Amino acid sequence: MISLPPRWMLFAGVLATLALAVPPFVIARVRATPDSNRAVHLFFDMDFQPKFRPQSANPLFADGRAQRTAVAGTVARGEAGLDTHLSEGVVGGKWADTLPASMPVTRELLERGQGRFNIYCSACHGYGGYGDGTVNVRAMTLMSSSDGPANGTSWVQAKSLHDPIVRDHAVGMIFNVATNGIRTMSGYGAQIDVADRWAIAAYVKTLQLSQNASMQSVPPELRDRIKKEVK
Ligand code: HEC
Repeated sequence: MISLPPRWMLFAGVLATLALAVPPFVIARVRATPDSNRAVHLFFDMDFQPKFRPQSANPLFADGRAQRTAVAGTVARGEAGLDTHLSEGVVGGKWADTLPASMPVTRELLERGQGRFNIYCSACHGYGGYGDGTVNVRAMTLMSSSDGPANGTSWVQAKSLHDPIVRDHAVGMIFNVATNGIRTMSGYGAQIDVADRWAIAAYVKTLQLSQNASMQSVPPELRDRIKKEVK
């Protein structure tokens, strides 16, 4: 006949079995609880980095702070805001009608603007500014063909810069469009530097004038010549 083991042994066995259930519970709990100071790191990943956390102490500095204050005179990118005329095309809360004082309108400036316009803007707006650039023409063709792009692809006709609305824009606003874009047109502030964006804006105004000039805007001594050539 099989005799039962002694009672203490049964008792210890039951206890041991119960104890086995504890580690899985602990592990499950720890895994489900976020903790930046995990005690056991089986995988180090990037848990330990030689760095100072915000608000922590650093004995290297006399004041004991790890976080250093900004060097006096530091200006965050795009936050100078000293000359809104130059950086935003705005004077006294309105679009500037003139170029910034540091940029006199010269022939060189307009030629520079023409060069940059032809590089950056003409693909869509066309060399003449009529919104007939090659990219725009190609996109419009694709959009209207039956096997053109599907999946909700769309293309907005590049605006003619001789549209009366655009002609009325002050040079500061043209500068702003070149910088930040407008509606579906994206901005070129990251690709074209400030001076070149002004040169482009000045050139756009010139281009507009060239297509809508009246005889009054021609110096008197040149009017006869123009009249002959136009005929
Ligand atoms: C990739 C094509 C593309 C390029 C490149 C492009 N534009 Fe445009 N532009 C557009 C489109 C499209 C519109 C019309 C946007 C709309 O109505 O949603 C537009 C509109 C404009 C307008 C009219 C704003 C108004 O009030 O309606 C101006 C001014 C302008 N662009 C200037 C420029 C200048 C300056 C450049 C070069 C720095 C440039 N664009 C480059 C596509 C382009």
